[in-house]
This record gives sequence, C-alpha cells and structure tokens, in this order.
Amino acid sequence: MTDIKKGFALVTGTTSGVGLNTIKPLIRSGWHVIAVNRSNKRAIEELSKIINKTDILKVNFIEIDLSNLNDVRAGSEEILEKFGDSLKIVICNAAVYKPRLKRPERSAQGFENSMAVNHFGHFLLINLLLDRLLSSNTKVELKRKVVNFIPRITILGTVTANYNELGGRIPIPAPADLGDLAGFEQGFLSPISMANGKRFKPGKAYKDSKLCNMITVQELSKKFSNKELICNSLYPGCVANTKLFRDTPWLFRILFPIFQKFITGGFVTEELAGERVAFIASNERFIQSGVHWSWGNRQKTGRKAFSQKLSQRIVNPVISNRVWELSKKLVGLV
Ligand SMILES: NC(=O)c1ccc[n+]([C@@H]2O[C@H](COP(=O)([O-])OP(=O)(O)OC[C@H]3O[C@@H](n4cnc5c(N)ncnc54)[C@H](OP(=O)(O)O)[C@@H]3O)[C@@H](O)[C@H]2O)c1
Repeated sequence: MTDIKKGFALVTGTTSGVGLNTIKPLIRSGWHVIAVNRSNKRAIEELSKIINKTDILKVNFIEIDLSNLNDVRAGSEEILEKFGDSLKIVICNAAVYKPRLKRPERSAQGFENSMAVNHFGHFLLINLLLDRLLSSNTKVELKRKVVNFIPRITILGTVTANYNELGGRIPIPAPADLGDLAGFEQGFLSPISMANGKRFKPGKAYKDSKLCNMITVQELSKKFSNKELICNSLYPGCVANTKLFRDTPWLFRILFPIFQKFITGGFVTEELAGERVAFIASNERFIQSGVHWSWGNRQKTGRKAFSQKLSQRIVNPVISNRVWELSKKLVGLV
C-alpha cells in the first residue's frame, strides 16, 4: 500500500541532556527522528556517541536556531518539504536557562532570549507545522506493523512553573507568574524583558517561559479534540546534571545533583528522562490531551506516570487564551 508512511518524530534540542536521550527510545519503538538543533555538526557528534551506525541513519538533522523566528520559518519549510505528511510527533524540548544574567540577552527579533527560545520559537514552530500534522492523521508503519496514529505534540514542562507544587512556589527569585501580561501587551521589546512588564529577573524569565509552554498545551487541547491531536506536557523528574545548569555557579553544579540524589530523592538520569519523554509522546497509553504528566518529585521504583494537578496560572482559560493570542501577534502569525 503506497499511502503507508514511516513515522517521523521531531525533537528539538538533541545536542545534550533529555533531548539527546529521547532519540534512542523513539528509534527502539520504530520511529524515524527529525533532530532540530542550532548545530547539525554537534548534534551528529553527540548522537554518534550513544547510538550505532545503523540507527543514526534513521535520524535526519535540521538546523534551526530557535532564538531567530526567521530561522524557525525557514526550518519549518524544510521540514514540511522533506517530511510533510510523515510527521506524526513534535516534541518541544530545547531550552535555555541563564539565571545569572544581569541584563537580558535579546533574540534576533529583540525579545528576552529565554522566552524567545523556550516559548516563542516553539510556539511558531508548532503553528507552522500544525496543519500538516493534523492532516497526517493516517496509518503509520512502526516496526513493520501498520498502526493508526493520532498526531501528537509533547512539550517539556517543569515543576517550577506550576504554583500548585512546592517547587513552583520557591520565591528565589520569584515563582512563575505572567501577571497582567503587560510585557506581552506592550510588544516585549527593550526595555521590556518580562511577560508582566516588570524588572528583569533571569531565573523567573525561565520559569515564565516554561509556564507559557504548559499554557500552549492547554490551549491546543481546547482547540483540537483528542481524535485530531493529542497534546501533553511532562515533568521528567529532576535531571540535575544536564547542561541546562551550565550557567549556574560551579558550586551549585556540584551540590545540586547530590542534593537531588540524596536529600530530596528527585534525581533522574538523562537516560530515564529521555525514555519518559519518548514514552509520553508516543505510547498508546497517553492519549488524553491537556494532561501534564509527572512521576512526582521523589522518585519511587515502579511508580507510574500520573496527571499532575496544575495551577490556575496555567489552566485559567482567560489567561491562557490571552497568552495564545498575544504570542501569535508577537511571532508574526497575525
Ligand atoms: N534538567 C532538568 O532537571 C529539567 C527538569 C524539568 C524540565 N526540563 C526541561 O527539559 C528540557 C531539556 O533540558 P535539559 O536539562 O536536557 O537541558 P540541556 O542539556 O541544556 O539541553 C537543552 C537543549 O536545547 C538546545 N538549545 C538551546 N538553545 C537553543 C536554540 N537557540 N535553538 C535550538 N536549540 C537550542 C541545546 O542546544 P545547544 O547545545 O546548541 O545549546 C540543547 O540541545 C528543557 O525544556 C527543560 O526546561 C529539564
């Protein structure tokens, strides 16, 4: 049958950490992968260290710097041209976290950079791929078996963006909170650097961007039934030794993994986190939309993923719709 296609799963940010470790389990389940990075060379080098030569042929590399919306547009065109209706899964994983900045870094379009990479870049990518993703709701061949597969979007969320959890209430520098969205309303360009239009707090800028990621999932789940599109977010656990923490103080980088391993019990390896992402994004058990999956903050052997209760800052329909509409405007979709 000619209309049966290989299934492609797209993952952003695969040069290290969780994204890199998501590829292997996806391939193991029969998926072909589109790895989206700002450097194909580094992505290939890093992946070659963890998978064999046969499996690397199942991975296609596309260069997109998510901090540049023009790059996102060009890269999306390339993805659609090359993989079109074979694209079934989009995993938004890439992120930057720079908690020690004194002044905001700016993206190519002039936005505060962590919001630009973590939220705006992914938001535009999703929207540009969405039509084809929705029309790709057909059969797919996985491990020589033909299965029905509803397209999916999975976004990495985090505990610090969810005010309902203890980790989401840490006041240093402040919990995630988009406030009245004054920064978004005013265009988010210099001197504005925060969604609420207030003073720049780099650690909060990261949390706010992850809050926007989780809101995106909520909005998508309202716009499309789970017969058309399954979208979810997840907290894979505290992967305390990834490069995400590269800009934290050196002592923090030493102590944080120890603290998470031996005090809180929240530590998760990069390999396990990658398996969890691949599992949530592709497994037939996770077909509910709008769910934020978690294994909790204390890792327990044998524990199953559960639906984490989310704060009003994420699920409030008025705020989430406003975030969606303003994001559309800021990335140039309207
Ligand atoms: N680590 C944790 O404990 C934890 C907990 C909860 C959620 N998460 C989430 O998990 C995801 C992965 O984090 P991680 O811990 O694996 O971090 P990581 O090792 O630093 O990986 C981040 C990835 O994002 C890429 N990236 C950064 N800026 C980019 C840009 N402008 N364009 C394209 N790609 C870019 C990086 O590529 P470069 O090599 O080019 O920089 C890298 O591949 C993030 O969404 C994070 O919020 C992590």
